[in-house]
Amino acid sequence: MVDTLPIDITRAKQSRITEVDFSNIPFGRVFSDHMFVADYDGTAWTNLRIVPYQPLQLSPANSALHYGQSVFEGMKAYKNTAGEVVVFRPLDNFHRLNRSAERMCMPPLPEEVFMNGLMELLKLDNQWVPDGENTALYIRPFIFATDNYIGIRASDTYTFMIFTCPVGAYYSEPVRVKIETHYSRATEGGTGAAKAAGNYAASLYPARRAQQQGYHQLVWTDSKTHQYIEESGTMNVMFVIDGKLITTPLSDTILAGITRDSVLTLAREWGYPVEERRIAVSEVIAAAKEGRLQEAFGTGTAATIAQIIQIGHEEQDYMLPPIAERKFSNRVFKALNDIKSGQAEDKWNWVY
Ligand code: COI
Repeated sequence: MVDTLPIDITRAKQSRITEVDFSNIPFGRVFSDHMFVADYDGTAWTNLRIVPYQPLQLSPANSALHYGQSVFEGMKAYKNTAGEVVVFRPLDNFHRLNRSAERMCMPPLPEEVFMNGLMELLKLDNQWVPDGENTALYIRPFIFATDNYIGIRASDTYTFMIFTCPVGAYYSEPVRVKIETHYSRATEGGTGAAKAAGNYAASLYPARRAQQQGYHQLVWTDSKTHQYIEESGTMNVMFVIDGKLITTPLSDTILAGITRDSVLTLAREWGYPVEERRIAVSEVIAAAKEGRLQEAFGTGTAATIAQIIQIGHEEQDYMLPPIAERKFSNRVFKALNDIKSGQAEDKWNWVY
């Protein structure tokens, strides 16, 4: 650990952990005892501190509230089989946070602020890391503008924070998705590759319409033609067609998912045929009709692997094979869990 900037620690007077039912944890509603905070004063990141988890005091003129200059990350800590707390690929999240920050005209965060803040916070709240099946401590780092100014320009000042929440599964069942052919998540030259708050706000209305039609989520298509697959909900999306793993290549409309990269790395390691290329909606639908679409799933930190059981397109619904028959995604899900829990070799030093 680099120890150049001191972190001031104020402990919670009393832990709230006894109030939590760890056998039944909803996603994202239960927050651990402490949070890490650092401020950017216009020239440097300062005032590193860990304080009890608490509401923020913001001016109504806070520019992030109005103009959405805010970026975030999602990562997870686990208890391995030796009972140690480990984090999955945190440096990849750190680098992606800074790429998002650059796109949103925000100052970069030093690695030591991110990593030392994270490690100190996890040390303090290690009791909050659950160890049940499909549970984890979800970690939410984020940076937001703090200038109190309603003219439109990049803020001079920012706050970086990390808080954590013990979580269970993100989706409680395999998901039904609708291929969206009107609304777009991202456009070329836009902010789709950044984990920017506004991207998620803009997805809510189309997602709600799909939910009203009985789907859990959308599959986004390209904004120009709506003929090519992009992502699914808040996840990257992958298909197994004719025994090949196929996913859309990274671009400025696709978030560089860390679970996406982990899945592709494992698939290649196993010698599984992998294609990163544009996928036409018509190809997926034809494969579904002809029984050649063997698997479809989303990849993301929150959900890890979210199995897709049904795809809706142009008023037609296509059912996919039962989850138990999905050789690739079941294998990759288990392999990722085994690496995180220390039961399989961590060849790529993913576990920190
Ligand atoms: C994640 O998978 O970490 C995400 O960003 C999804 C989140 C919006 C819940």
